[in-house]
Amino acid sequence: MQLFTKKSDYLNYRQQSSLGILGLVPTMGNLHQGHLNLVKESLKENDHTLVTIFVNPKQFGPNEDYEKYPRTLESDLKKLKELQGSEKILVFAPERPTEIFPEDFSTEIQVTGLEHALCGLQRPGHFKGVTTVVYQLFQLSGAHKAYFGQKDYQQFKIIQKMTKDLSLAIELHMVPIARESSGLALSSRNQYMTSEQKLEAANIYKSLRMVAQKYLKAPDEAQNLRQEILFKDPSWQYLELLDAQTLKAPGPRTRQVVVAGAYHMGDTRLIDNVLINL
Ligand code: PAF
Repeated sequence: MQLFTKKSDYLNYRQQSSLGILGLVPTMGNLHQGHLNLVKESLKENDHTLVTIFVNPKQFGPNEDYEKYPRTLESDLKKLKELQGSEKILVFAPERPTEIFPEDFSTEIQVTGLEHALCGLQRPGHFKGVTTVVYQLFQLSGAHKAYFGQKDYQQFKIIQKMTKDLSLAIELHMVPIARESSGLALSSRNQYMTSEQKLEAANIYKSLRMVAQKYLKAPDEAQNLRQEILFKDPSWQYLELLDAQTLKAPGPRTRQVVVAGAYHMGDTRLIDNVLINL
């Protein structure tokens, strides 16, 4: 496994080596099984896999957890090294943010439309920060395929739209959500919670599934149930049932629905979603 901490070192290496088909797994580190599933998928489908580990300042709001976001490079590298096929892994973990965003960096990539829902409404500027960094990572990596988790479903749809609009020559893959046995979606932010909170947070997935199951039987009743759940527990920031492609209210042409929620467990903000094919 090769580690690069400078963009120039990675670019030189890429120029001098024949990496074949390259898969990219962009992460902010603090790797858990969800991330490792993305890496495994990429290792299966590509000659080499580049894992980037970068806590992107541009996607955090002023009152969010950028400073406290867990930075655990050593244990991340250990987990990657233990994977079967790790000799095909390259890691780019920029030693400072200026490796990605030099002081005079003044470009923004913004996808309009899909951000007017779900997390986009709650975290102004967040997705612009995501697309700006992801575009930069697509360009510098030279990757042919990129792997993202379904947990950040809206993020995936926005990156997919950017890729289409800008005709980027990269194939996107969405990998299913990894969960604890309780159903709680794995997230780097789970470690902010106590074990009691984690247990309670398993209800998020249960509620999403209840709404999804109801939708399959009686769509109108599912909307009522969704509102009932929101009304009973103010810790929900949102709980929405939307067309999975447009992120708008489902209509007669809807073929897939996403039930997505954001929930405040104490100071920890958690997101999760369930997809239903109609
Ligand atoms: O999903 C994430 O971890 C981040 O949003 C990403 C895609 C690595 C961009 O910083």
